[in-house]
Amino acid sequence: MLIDSHAHLEDEKYDDDRDDVIRRCKDELTLVINVGSNIETSKKSIELAKSNEFIYAAIGIHPEHSQKEINDIETIEKLLSQEKVVAIGEIGLDYYYGDPPVEYQKQCFIEQIRLAKKYNLPIVIHDRDAHGDVLDIVKNEWTSSLRGVFHSYSGSSEMAFQLIEMNFYISLGGPVTFKNAKKALDVASKIPIEKLLIETDSPYLTPVPYRGKRNEPVNVKYVAKKIAEIKNIDYEEVCNITANNSASLFSINL
Ligand code: NI
Repeated sequence: MLIDSHAHLEDEKYDDDRDDVIRRCKDELTLVINVGSNIETSKKSIELAKSNEFIYAAIGIHPEHSQKEINDIETIEKLLSQEKVVAIGEIGLDYYYGDPPVEYQKQCFIEQIRLAKKYNLPIVIHDRDAHGDVLDIVKNEWTSSLRGVFHSYSGSSEMAFQLIEMNFYISLGGPVTFKNAKKALDVASKIPIEKLLIETDSPYLTPVPYRGKRNEPVNVKYVAKKIAEIKNIDYEEVCNITANNSASLFSINL
């Protein structure tokens, strides 16, 4: 079994050959979780899930779109009842660009966490250069039924241990294969495999040996191989355990 827990197959970078990319996924992968970032891509994510048995959808408003779509969270709420929607995401905070203003990002994040609690759905969290504020919000909003994944995790192993205590999974992607990935390597070696998911974040964050090219979900195998090497466990075991972790988080029967 091999699952890519985070991909964006609706991205325009696949407009010329999406069918081929999806066919390769079908040949090599058990499941793909396709993640929306705004209303438009969330709807496309649902369409992809409806037309492909092995694709499931997460829908939500990414912090990048928080100012523009702050009043569209009710649209996300309406879409939750669609078939094969398994999570709310990606949601979170992104301070890398200094925009949109923090107050929009926080409001959008908090409201969508509350939506997840209302519908008992897991959340897919995007946290870029905002570890302190993300942790504060998650702690404030935490209840024993809240659960989710920190996608393309870039924080410390200390923070990761706090997160797994709160029922979160840690998802690692392409950066774990990069030469300068000290933090990701530390997280990969210390966090138990039972708490890890693997992902590509396609079309971004392409792992070695294809770093620099467009990414696609089948490349999740390079992430699995690297984690197997770091943890000194079987490649197949990494694939199977992380697949089961994904299935359990998103309540999908494999
Ligand atoms: Ni993403």
